[in-house]
Amino acid sequence: METAARTAPAAVIVAIDGPAGTGKSSTSKAVAAKLGLGYLDTGAQYRAITWWMVTNGIDVEDAVAVADVAGKPTIVSGTDPAAPTITVDGTDVSAPIRTQEVTSRVSAVSAVPEVRSVITELQRTIAAEAPRGIVVEGRDIGTTVLPDADVKIFLTASPEVRAARRSGELKGKEAADLAATQAALAKRDALDSGRETSPLAKADDAVEVDTSELTLDQVIECVVTLVEEKRTAA
Ligand code: DC
Repeated sequence: METAARTAPAAVIVAIDGPAGTGKSSTSKAVAAKLGLGYLDTGAQYRAITWWMVTNGIDVEDAVAVADVAGKPTIVSGTDPAAPTITVDGTDVSAPIRTQEVTSRVSAVSAVPEVRSVITELQRTIAAEAPRGIVVEGRDIGTTVLPDADVKIFLTASPEVRAARRSGELKGKEAADLAATQAALAKRDALDSGRETSPLAKADDAVEVDTSELTLDQVIECVVTLVEEKRTAA
């Protein structure tokens, strides 16, 4: 008789990085659901700590003030890909972290090294505790948070495609202004790529997938195949 240890697949860690509007979240959730893995949106964690700073009147442009309180909020992420959750000190913040107010401040908060070390530690704990493995999406997962991930993907897309996709997620007046969306994305990219501590970057051993001309299903299929190949080879 085969033992459970021989039949259960080993936990697999999948890191998916890239800028906003490349399909990271939709891809990561779908891949996790298909493969029975957990799902962690690390951008939501940076948004959650930013929401807490704004709500508590911290000047987010003051890196010292932000660093001083970085360890105060308790952020909890639920990792079911069908219904991911995020709370700060027990409050559900899944809606307020998507407001323009938080989006425009998150790059400043996430550039503060003390914030990154608190959030990185949280991410590593969540990944280590995922029983069957996890898909973790972000900016620095393959380079800094989980450099030993089994599969590393770096998603890209042209600025025009990214702005159009992001615009489709926004509502009303915000959605109509494609040029403003493209400019806002470019500004956030520059801040996220240019910061000193673990910037947005492709790991040397990551597979780069340009999603500009691909449907979401094609991107999902591509990542699922890469994970399955890795599992077969292991
Ligand atoms: O994925 P997102 O757009 O929700 O991420 C919001 C911000 O969080 C992004 O502009 C930069 C920051 N972020 C980060 O610095 N590191 C990560 N691993 C994920 C997000």
